[in-house]
Amino acid sequence: MKAMVLKSFGGPESFELCDVPKPVPQAGQVLVRVHATSINPLDYQVRRGDYPDLVPLPAITGHDVSGVVEAVGPGVMAFAAGDEVWYTPQIFDGPGSYAEYHVAAESIIGRKPPSLSHLEAASLTLVGGTAWEALVGRAALQVGETILVHGGAGGVGHVAIQLAKAMGAKVFTTVREANAEFARSMGADVVIDYEKEDYVDVIMRETAGQGVDVVFDTIGGNTLSRSPDALAQLGRVVTIVDIAQPQNLVQAWGRNASYHFVFTRQNRGKLDELAALVARGQLRPHVGAVYALADLGLAHARLESPNNGIRGKIAIAVEPSLIA
Ligand SMILES: NC(=O)c1ccc[n+]([C@@H]2O[C@H](COP(=O)([O-])OP(=O)(O)OC[C@H]3O[C@@H](n4cnc5c(N)ncnc54)[C@H](OP(=O)(O)O)[C@@H]3O)[C@@H](O)[C@H]2O)c1
Repeated sequence: MKAMVLKSFGGPESFELCDVPKPVPQAGQVLVRVHATSINPLDYQVRRGDYPDLVPLPAITGHDVSGVVEAVGPGVMAFAAGDEVWYTPQIFDGPGSYAEYHVAAESIIGRKPPSLSHLEAASLTLVGGTAWEALVGRAALQVGETILVHGGAGGVGHVAIQLAKAMGAKVFTTVREANAEFARSMGADVVIDYEKEDYVDVIMRETAGQGVDVVFDTIGGNTLSRSPDALAQLGRVVTIVDIAQPQNLVQAWGRNASYHFVFTRQNRGKLDELAALVARGQLRPHVGAVYALADLGLAHARLESPNNGIRGKIAIAVEPSLIA
């Protein structure tokens, strides 16, 4: 099978399109013909060498699969050849999705929502699972609460806006001006231009000095350290980003705040719940650009650049007919 293989850590040119053996499903595993995958910041972080001890080279990386079951190993009960499936491969545990075939444990695989294309489905598994874990699992967002989603035009952010609306919250989000309409179309109630306005000022003005119940941080750095300034009493902060700078938690203490740190985990349950929202028309990933598998390096370079013009996700067409 064809796969994009990472032979050394480095820039976007570090991938090589290679012929490698097709994997064989073992007991409890499913062999999937990958139709589409997508790119996450984790993918370029891995590629440039941020996690050398966790990713032995040469490696096939990539963290989203949408495809069709080709064969199942002994003991697999939930899936059969021909089923359309979606999932995030186990992170830091074996080959990833930048290949024509992938093998995974049946416990982390879900049934692809029929109303999503493979490109769309592959654009939702990791970011959707992360947003679900953050808002449902950790923040336990309630109907009528308020939430600030940082980075509302990004892969995780645009899904988090839709999820928060489906959960009945009022959503504030930060984006650059060019992405304001996009954020509104995802359902954001108050859109804050992070280049022109101070989001703490806007939130305090719009909430009559109360602050928001939940801050969801997809940016890191000073967005995390300033979270307590925008937070209501008994508020919750959920961050999915590395803590790059020391935090002073005195203000968080004053707000009776709870902090949650999420590194997304893989399981079928979250995928099934996301699929239910997709079926109800409350959630749909936005595919901002599509690249062929052979052009993976170009796609990485684009996602890595700030102000790259991408809204939502970059999908990768592994099946060539999916790209015009
Ligand atoms: N812990 C986990 O399990 C987990 C899972 C998924 C992702 N993550 C992490 O979460 C982060 C976001 O991931 P992603 O997939 O959403 O990335 P992404 O698709 O690249 O989105 C990031 C978004 O943030 C915007 N942005 C940049 N600076 C901003 C600022 N100061 N305020 C508001 N928006 C800003 C970017 O757009 P502009 O530059 O155009 O403004 C872009 O739309 C990454 O660091 C990733 O590694 C963690």
